[in-house]
Amino acid sequence: SQRTLTDAFGRRIHYLRLSVTDRCDLRCRYCLPKGYKGFEASEHWLTFDEIVQVVRAFAALGVRHVRLTGGEPLLRRELPLLAARLATLPGLDDLSLSTNGTRLKSLAKPLYAAGVRRLNISLDSLRPDVFKQITGGCLDQVLRGIQAAQRVGFAPIRINTLFMPGVNDDELEELIDYCGARGFTLRLIEAMPMGATGQAAAGHSLDPHAIQRRLAQRVELLPELLPGGGPARYYRLSGTETHIGFISPRSQHFCQTCNRVRLTVVGTLRLCLGQEHSAPLRVLLRAGISDAELSAHLQRVIALKPERHHFNESPTPITRFMSATGG
Ligand code: GTP
Ligand code: 5AD
Ligand code: SF4
Repeated sequence: SQRTLTDAFGRRIHYLRLSVTDRCDLRCRYCLPKGYKGFEASEHWLTFDEIVQVVRAFAALGVRHVRLTGGEPLLRRELPLLAARLATLPGLDDLSLSTNGTRLKSLAKPLYAAGVRRLNISLDSLRPDVFKQITGGCLDQVLRGIQAAQRVGFAPIRINTLFMPGVNDDELEELIDYCGARGFTLRLIEAMPMGATGQAAAGHSLDPHAIQRRLAQRVELLPELLPGGGPARYYRLSGTETHIGFISPRSQHFCQTCNRVRLTVVGTLRLCLGQEHSAPLRVLLRAGISDAELSAHLQRVIALKPERHHFNESPTPITRFMSATGG
């Protein structure tokens, strides 16, 4: 009988978000505070061998999809080598990556060659000054990275935009046009109150119906179920093949269909983005745990996965920054 990973609420876990670094070359104001010093020490980072062992154990339990995250995953040295090892693990059929795009110009090609296919890229503004104000980075560098990724053949490419009324909401139409012209899916994200930065940003909610009304003059948004089971709810822009997705964890939480867990760069398994329930795996890996023992252990600790996040409770208890779990 096929072994599976099922939590106490009957949810099948088949998606692992793998954070390969907690560092980042940007400082998005809703994510990582300027001057942050709390990064993990490098001797605690899981090695590629350790990461592969964990993923192998998950794959043996029916996990099909691994998404590489950070911080900014492209900062991890030799990431294409890790990707290539994961891509050939039996049982995994989907290897994806979430990135800020700054290093795609040089890394798109080796990552594609390694077997990464689906790419989510953050892009909060198409205006250089606003982009700089939000992220501290250079818009042009990211746009060139996105272009490189498209040229190499990544598909689908999804653009993640933190929706911030008063900051970038006036760019909605331009972002739709930018994505529509390139075959990308635009996803608007509601800020989550993680760490002081996230809490400061999480003042607004994101309501698909309000956006629908706003765009009504221009285009109709038709609800559409896209496969994946991720957090986004999708609509198709009438008369086009362009989709727009909404990720609204606070105003329309999707915890009842949660299919995922997270592994941090230091080998802590986090069972929910918006809760502290976790299990340390690094000590077990460094003590030489076998694959079979590790799988059995994962089946036990999955029972710790909580029913849902408590982002809407005040004050929210999550002091950890988003960069530590990679979203
Ligand atoms: P696919 O559906 O596989 O394309 O990816 P994704 O949307 O799950 O991943 P991505 O890294 O692009 O994340 C987009 C946004 O969704 C980020 O803000 C994440 O923090 C958020 N997100 C992803 N998974 C969860 C989750 O389980 N719970 C919550 N609350 N937010 C999530
Ligand atoms: N709330 C919601 N999403 C966030 N991200 C970073 N910080 C937050 C937050 N506080 C998003 C990034 C990126 C994705 C992986 O996580 O914008 O697109
Ligand atoms: Fe870096 Fe992503 Fe956080 Fe921005 S959102 S600071 S790109 S980890």
